[in-house]
Amino acid sequence: MLKLGLIGYPIQHSLSPWIHEQLMAQQNVKGSYELFEIQPENFNQKIKSLKNSRLDGFNVTVPYKEKIIPYLDEIDESARALGAVNTVKRKEDQWIGYNTDGLGFVDSLIHRYPESTKYGNKALILGSGGAARGIYHALADTSLQRVDLANRTIERAEEIIQDRPVTIQSNALDLHQASERMVDYDLIIQTTTVGMSPDTNVVVPIKDLKEGAVVCDIVYRPIETEFLKTAQKHGASLHFGHEMLLQQAVYAFKIWTQTKPEAEPLLSKFEEKLK
Ligand code: ATR
Repeated sequence: MLKLGLIGYPIQHSLSPWIHEQLMAQQNVKGSYELFEIQPENFNQKIKSLKNSRLDGFNVTVPYKEKIIPYLDEIDESARALGAVNTVKRKEDQWIGYNTDGLGFVDSLIHRYPESTKYGNKALILGSGGAARGIYHALADTSLQRVDLANRTIERAEEIIQDRPVTIQSNALDLHQASERMVDYDLIIQTTTVGMSPDTNVVVPIKDLKEGAVVCDIVYRPIETEFLKTAQKHGASLHFGHEMLLQQAVYAFKIWTQTKPEAEPLLSKFEEKLK
């Protein structure tokens, strides 16, 4: 019996147990996925007791993605570069940390839209929070020629670009510049919290898009944000936030089980769950 779980605060409404139970059923893995909601003041003590427990692996969410690092025995290179861990696997009595946040998403994009991520192409990330940072690192490892970041607070975009050890062509933009230049990009990824239900705003208006552009929004409630609806009117191919959520879970599940789970068969059931 595999014992998995999630640590974070607050996490009662997390969709992770549902996703991982579906993946266990799909892959014929017997196990459980439990929520460990840890109050910030109890973090040290709870983590130590989890380390002595029989937990085989767990996900880490807000606000502990950085705080977990000192408790790990090993950390995967990409998680180290990001400075954040969202997946931990036990190997005997050691904990190894990974970050699947951007990787699962970028993998699914390359798989579905190879044309949008090929060499010579340009990507734009809107927003500069933790999610944007993960996606930026994952995109910087693809063959894309340029990955720009636009944010309301431009300094946060600059910081992400400066922190990245490997150089890729990147500029930090403000939101006005992003709106003006959107037509230059093959791939646009909206990572801000703007447009998350009940908010129906868009972070920047879409005036024009390049022919064949792929547009993603990592907001998954609603599935079809106003940003995606406008992008569709301009002829874009759409990539949805709930697919990213599934992909990063699939990636974590692969790390724990060495199976080859698939996200696609879960998509329509997941969409029903989000309605
Ligand atoms: P996460 O870790 O989930 O990415 P975050 O770190 O809180 O979340 O980042 C939220 C992102 O949404 C940031 O890019 C934020 O912009 P700032 O860095 O300027 O705060 C962006 N954001 C939130 N509300 C916004 C708004 N009303 N207009 C524009 N950007 C907004």
